[in-house]
Amino acid sequence: ALAGTAERPAEGLKVVITAGPTREPLDPVRYLSNHSSGKMGYALAAAAVALGAEVHLISGPVALATPYGVTRHDVESANDMLAAAERLADDCDLFIGCAAVADYRAEAPAEHKLKKRDDEDAMTLRLVKNPDIIARIAARDDRPFVIGFAAETRDLERYGRDKLTRKQLDMVVANDVSQDGLGFGADDNAAVLLWKDGDAIDRDAQPPQPKSRLAEAVLKRALSRLNT
Ligand code: CTP
Ligand code: CA
Repeated sequence: ALAGTAERPAEGLKVVITAGPTREPLDPVRYLSNHSSGKMGYALAAAAVALGAEVHLISGPVALATPYGVTRHDVESANDMLAAAERLADDCDLFIGCAAVADYRAEAPAEHKLKKRDDEDAMTLRLVKNPDIIARIAARDDRPFVIGFAAETRDLERYGRDKLTRKQLDMVVANDVSQDGLGFGADDNAAVLLWKDGDAIDRDAQPPQPKSRLAEAVLKRALSRLNT
């Protein structure tokens, strides 16, 4: 689709965003998950609507209200999230993987509630790898512009660049989640935006700022890349 006017530069664009954690069942009452709050993905969805886009938010379980103008698709497991992403990726212009997808799930979730055993002091859980949702979307013939996130506690830029190349992304938002008050669960975030510029990788360091403002900066940079 063609991008719109100066006030609504994302007019006519279909944007799909994954957000929040995934939940991987162990049995009918238990699951594996993580502490993702979903705030960054929801901030991106709200900012994309403000810029004029049609926005689909594929959301794991979070305690956040759906932003105005956003179509929300609730999912639980990584496999559910992948199915929703594949379905919504048709005619999509911009895909943003902001979800903290569980890397592994239980190989065989129990049909009934697992019972504690008196004869064993340990138990072993066998896990299998989940599909890489963003890499699957980036591998499509009709691929959209794809932005990934890399939340790291060390070697931020090295891991960010590695994810950009390995998953064939167009842009990576690398953020340091080891700093207090930033990233996971927080309202503020700092990040280094990385994108391919021919064979080189260009960068733009964003200072600590509200997630809403970082979201706008990420989208504006993506739109300028989409239009070239
Ligand atoms: N991602 C995804 N599907 C997965 C795992 C990750 O779509 N199964 C996406 C995330 O939404 C994010 C990017 O890939 O946009 C990077 O996620 P991250 O967990 O940092 O990458 P991994 O490849 O899982 O590497 P790591 O070992 O650092 O967790
Ligand atoms: Ca991971």
